Amino acid sequence: MAVPASELTAETAAGAPRARHVAIIMDGNGRWATERGWPRLVGHRKGAERVKQIVHACPHMGVNWLTIYAFSTENWKRSTAEVLGLMGIFARYIKREADVMAAEGVRMRFIGDRGPLDRKLRNLMDTIEVQTAGNTRLNLTVAINYGGRAELARATGRLAARIAAGEIQTPTEADLAACLDTAGHPDPDLVIRTSGETRISNFLPFQSAYAEYEFTPTLWPDFTPDHLGAILDRFGMRDRRFGAA
Ligand code: IPE
Ligand code: IPE
Ligand code: MG
Repeated sequence: MAVPASELTAETAAGAPRARHVAIIMDGNGRWATERGWPRLVGHRKGAERVKQIVHACPHMGVNWLTIYAFSTENWKRSTAEVLGLMGIFARYIKREADVMAAEGVRMRFIGDRGPLDRKLRNLMDTIEVQTAGNTRLNLTVAINYGGRAELARATGRLAARIAAGEIQTPTEADLAACLDTAGHPDPDLVIRTSGETRISNFLPFQSAYAEYEFTPTLWPDFTPDHLGAILDRFGMRDRRFGAA
């Protein structure tokens, strides 16, 4: 039986297993700083430096979709100082990296609910999405104020509107996928979580239904392109069956 197009992956299509789309739960910034007796924000700043390195390394490693979890819908529970500090780091990252993204062919997009974010940050996000829309070397998606359950709730609303408009009668998986924030993005092949926690904390639950998972004890500020390379090598050894025998 033919494999449905939606299940064609890098390896079934090309015969060589490789993770085309890597998603990362970048965790452990706070512990990294606390271990050194420093404020948590120092860890977040160091974490942002790591993002730059990993973004730069991905295309050299055959990864052309990278989705990173920067701020969850649950992270508002943190102190105001930490939340504001993180938002400042996001804004600076977008401003300072705009030229690099242009030079390196990075298309930057965001998923999550932008409504509660500061207007200046939202404007920066909108602008960089437009500026980088023509780039194809790396698709970088940043999850900010993202939660998988909230995304599914939003998607359900969009789907209901399409059903009410008579565009859809019986919704399919593809119809729901097309209503998610990630509409048009391929599913992640590999989800990595740093810092030793072995949970997904509301990250891409629908999209990662058949992803491979890697949990590494390395804290995000210590995670280098070499760590990523080793994980990608292991990914190449995995046997992905998608339910087939
Ligand atoms: C991940 O690091 C970054 C965000 C959640 C924004 P943490 O801040 O969660 O670091 P730990 O888990 O407290 O060490
Ligand atoms: C998940 O990390 C969110 C991000 C990495 C942005 P958390 O540190 O917020 O997750 P929990 O609280 O340990 O589950
Ligand atoms: Mg954490």
